Amino acid sequence: MKTLLTEEQLGEGIRRMAGEIKKHYQGRPLTIVGVMIGSIVLLADLIRLLDLPLRVELVQARKNHAGTRPGPLAIDVDLLSGSIQSRDVLLVDDIFDTGRTLWELIPQIDEMGPTSVRSAVLLCKEGRCKVAMKPDFAAFTIPNEFVVGYGLDYRDQYRNLPYLAALEPHEIEDDAKNNPAGNNA
Ligand code: IMP
Ligand code: MG
Repeated sequence: MKTLLTEEQLGEGIRRMAGEIKKHYQGRPLTIVGVMIGSIVLLADLIRLLDLPLRVELVQARKNHAGTRPGPLAIDVDLLSGSIQSRDVLLVDDIFDTGRTLWELIPQIDEMGPTSVRSAVLLCKEGRCKVAMKPDFAAFTIPNEFVVGYGLDYRDQYRNLPYLAALEPHEIEDDAKNNPAGNNA
């Protein structure tokens, strides 16, 4: 695998995005909703940079696949413990790839009566979007490669890498045989 973004570069990008988020909400109370599992590292770093009155909640979105291949999306909003009614909500996810996760999640959150719903991601993958929306905040745009680290996994591994790395083709060889186009969502 090759390093795409170092720890320092990740830190810089997240500080920049936190600045934009603070400017947008202007000190108003905010509920951050992290999309498990990939967002956990970003979530931990981002919330410590936001000096706003803040609540933190979690939802889970899971693609039932092995590795980089597609699968049905299961979204579980039952993890939400508090009410988000009349709250400004910011969904935080690791990566915006096809966009299906946020596209399917946002209407479910909307049904709960928040004042607003916006989204922030660490990464936006180039040329992959399949939905009519873009995240409101994104720290980085990356090329169309499968990346791991800083919360992102390949077959449940590598989430603990402090940097972001792109897997080499031979490292995802099994998947490539089943999916020569290399689509992962
Ligand atoms: P989307 O619904 O296609 O936007 O996909 C979003 C989810 O797919 C992310 O939250 C990740 O869990 C997963 N994903 C997409 N691309 C990558 C990648 O390059 N590395 C690891 N996970 C990825
Ligand atoms: Mg995810």
